[in-house]
Amino acid sequence: MMDAFGLALPVLRLLDPEDAHRATIAGLKLLPGRAPAQDDPRLAVSAFGLDFPNPIGLAAGFDKDAEAPDAMLGFGFGFVEVGTLTPRAQPGNPRPRAFRLPEDRGVINRYGFNNEGHAPALARLSRRARRGVVGVNVGANKDAADRVADYVAGVKAFADVASYFTINVSSPNTPGLRDLQEPEALSDLLARVIETRDAAAARRPVLLKIAPDLTLEQLDGVVRVARARGVDGMIVSNTTISRPGTLRSPLAAQGGGLSGAPLFPLSTYMLAQTFLRVEGQFPLIGAGGVGDPQTALRKIEAGATLVQLYSALIYEGPGLAGRIKRGLIAALERENTTLAALTGRKAAEIARG
Ligand code: FNR
Repeated sequence: MMDAFGLALPVLRLLDPEDAHRATIAGLKLLPGRAPAQDDPRLAVSAFGLDFPNPIGLAAGFDKDAEAPDAMLGFGFGFVEVGTLTPRAQPGNPRPRAFRLPEDRGVINRYGFNNEGHAPALARLSRRARRGVVGVNVGANKDAADRVADYVAGVKAFADVASYFTINVSSPNTPGLRDLQEPEALSDLLARVIETRDAAAARRPVLLKIAPDLTLEQLDGVVRVARARGVDGMIVSNTTISRPGTLRSPLAAQGGGLSGAPLFPLSTYMLAQTFLRVEGQFPLIGAGGVGDPQTALRKIEAGATLVQLYSALIYEGPGLAGRIKRGLIAALERENTTLAALTGRKAAEIARG
């Protein structure tokens, strides 16, 4: 089945990226359930009170409506993050809203939180056997009267089925959403989210996902608030609204968030900067441009305990998680070391830019 998807890749690339994505999810839903592969114990990671068989996760946005988390765990990911989910269904922005930048190995999207809303995803997650780590990424409806209430509703709704929560205040495609990264707004949001989490029967870790476009001064404020409010971790980062001068694709000027290889330098720099500010208080997930063992390793050296990827999957296909895991094992053997020992080893150097 994995081969079938590998073979389908050239065909999928002929389609508009959104149609290709829909076809992929439809295909994944047809896959027979299979247990996640047994990983080498050297890849196991404990973080936020959860046990991960390996550190390579599928980032939010691939499976917005929680249609195929088990199929993706079956492809070897150590965890899957579904969402972003908003309380009510919403259509998102007009199409076209997703663009491949093959010359740059990048993607630009301006989906704008298209999703079916909480209820269908909750029903699907409730039906799962619940093997493996599946995080739920929550956001606010575009027309929400009270955005904070939408995040709170997410944490309430999915309390029984989410392995962890991600508070997404960093999508560039919902106007004003990223203003929730300002210290006062963020402090209020996190206070209400964590109060809701603490009132639930199961204590789920709460992670904060940030934009790579913050200034270092803004990052100071975000980390200060995150530490003071006691979040369990942070994800660095979401897509960027910046456009590196190195981009060669004719579609580079499309509006939206840029991800994939061209996001790697900025997101890895911000990860290292975050790691230095967090001072070990909680673990970090590094996302942005991971596409092979070297980039995964660099995220870990910049301070990531776990990594996530999405864009590279579009170019590399579903065997990618397996290839990265094999490369990580080889690196650990070569250097006779452990993932934990590598975490943050080069943060100071990478933070110098
Ligand atoms: C995303 N990403 C994203 N993030 C999020 O928190 N909620 C979302 O709904 C989405 N949607 C989404 C759609 C598409 C098409 C892409 C490419 C990305 C961001 C994603 O989770 C990740 O943070 C970045 O894409 C950086 O990782 P990669 O893609 O460079 O590996």
